[in-house]
Amino acid sequence: MNVWQKFEQPFFILAPMEAVTDHVFRRVVNEAAAPDVFFSEFTNATGWVHAGEKAVAGRLTIHPDEKYPLIAQIWCSEPDDIEKLAIYCKNLGYQGIDLNMGCPAKTAVKNSGGSAMIRQPELAAKIIQSAKKAGLPVSVKTRLGYTNIQEWKGWLTHILQQDISALTIHLRTKKEMSKVPAHWELMPNIRKLRDEISPHTLLIGNGDVKDRAHGEALIKQTGIDGIMIGRGVFSNIFAFEEVPAAHSKQELIALLHFHLNLFEESNTKYQISDISVKPYQTLKRFFKIYIRDFPGSHDIRNLLMESSTIDEARVILDNNKI
Ligand SMILES: Cc1cc2nc3c(=O)[nH]c(=O)nc-3n(C[C@H](O)[C@H](O)[C@H](O)COP(=O)(O)O)c2cc1C
Repeated sequence: MNVWQKFEQPFFILAPMEAVTDHVFRRVVNEAAAPDVFFSEFTNATGWVHAGEKAVAGRLTIHPDEKYPLIAQIWCSEPDDIEKLAIYCKNLGYQGIDLNMGCPAKTAVKNSGGSAMIRQPELAAKIIQSAKKAGLPVSVKTRLGYTNIQEWKGWLTHILQQDISALTIHLRTKKEMSKVPAHWELMPNIRKLRDEISPHTLLIGNGDVKDRAHGEALIKQTGIDGIMIGRGVFSNIFAFEEVPAAHSKQELIALLHFHLNLFEESNTKYQISDISVKPYQTLKRFFKIYIRDFPGSHDIRNLLMESSTIDEARVILDNNKI
């Protein structure tokens, strides 16, 4: 049984998010309210083949405390490089390989990767077959199409014909970026297509899902197998909670302390090279996740944004405990 076959349905996934879902943030989300599976940040296979660990800057690091299922998300347009990085990920301890075929960022598209795969279906098929050579289950995360939503049928038919373990669809086109609401209305027909072409491929929906309860409602409406949530954890770090509860200021501050401790430990103990040491500034994007929605949160956040070390942040939090 591979990792995907072990999940009870419906299952929930923390979305891959570059510069967010490293081993530090994954452990924070696991502590707050755990999904069933976590993805790494997307990692370019060609960069890794040519420059090794330095090119990936700790993106693929797994912390010894991470006991939950982990999928490595990788991308590039060279099938041989995908095979090499997939083998490396297997040796690191990842339980599956996910292929990014949806990223709209210019850096990915100009290197013929990410959403550019939608326009190169034969290459996409080769990339999938190469990833399989590592012996791990292979999944794909993609969008509905490149320019028009009508592209979904042809593109997803092609991907479903490649015998993959799971398919995540971010329900927008490349062109739409994240500017329009996700097209959940298409999901029942995508599910029918999956049932016809590849019933064993798990179907996962992604786009604008707020939390587990919202995801469960969408699963009921569409009949899909799983839900992936990304930005939902920015507005509610407890998004995967099974029984939604109220969370106190003290609880949120304790989680931020936990994040600070893991970040500090990561920079001192677990860095692979200097390039994987993260500057303090990179923490600042996370403060609004914890310091929100309670009296005085705005002022505490402003103080934190002006701080320049972890110890300064700790003092600010200690001075604002109650
Ligand atoms: C900061 C950030 C980084 C992202 N990085 C990745 C990535 O590395 N790989 C990927 O497949 N998608 C990436 N995405 C897209 C998300 O995985 C997800 O598809 C998208 O945010 C829509 O889901 P949501 O509405 O639940 O956030 C990223 C999104 C954000 C906001």
